[in-house]
Amino acid sequence: MRLILSVIFLSSLLFSATKNTLDNSFITRFEYGAMLYENPRGVGCISCHKKGDKPVIIAKYKEKDKKTKKLVEKSIIAPAINNVSYEVFIDKMTADKTDSKVMPTYFLTKEELDSLFFYIKRLNKK
Ligand code: HEC
Repeated sequence: MRLILSVIFLSSLLFSATKNTLDNSFITRFEYGAMLYENPRGVGCISCHKKGDKPVIIAKYKEKDKKTKKLVEKSIIAPAINNVSYEVFIDKMTADKTDSKVMPTYFLTKEELDSLFFYIKRLNKK
């Protein structure tokens, strides 16, 4: 019981600490989002989506067409993300490995996702 209580106490401390960081405009939500975009505990979004305002070809490869038996050029494209809806964004960011073979899986909190979304919506308006 004591252990449970101290865990609750500690997590509420932690929670208010993170909350303060956002509210006190020690860094703005935009800056926080920018930080996450470059370093989201994993591969930075920036390395594939670049500025996020237009599609980026991240790889080209050749594949044999099953019918014609000819090599066809294919490419992997990271789409523009500055115009996605909140639903699409959350869907994508909480999808697991089975959903995309290219985009990494991230483990971001709701707070982090909201700031990231706030940021990417402003990518073309800088
Ligand atoms: C390794 C390259 C790579 C990285 C890193 C990456 N993405 Fe992506 N992303 C892609 C590709 C490729 C797609 C399109 C295919 C797919 O859905 O997997 C995509 C799709 C998306 C979409 C869906 C767009 C749409 O219109 O459906 C969103 C939103 C997105 N990425 C946001 C992010 C954010 C935010 C980050 C960083 C936390 C990130 N991506 C990191 C490659 C990447």
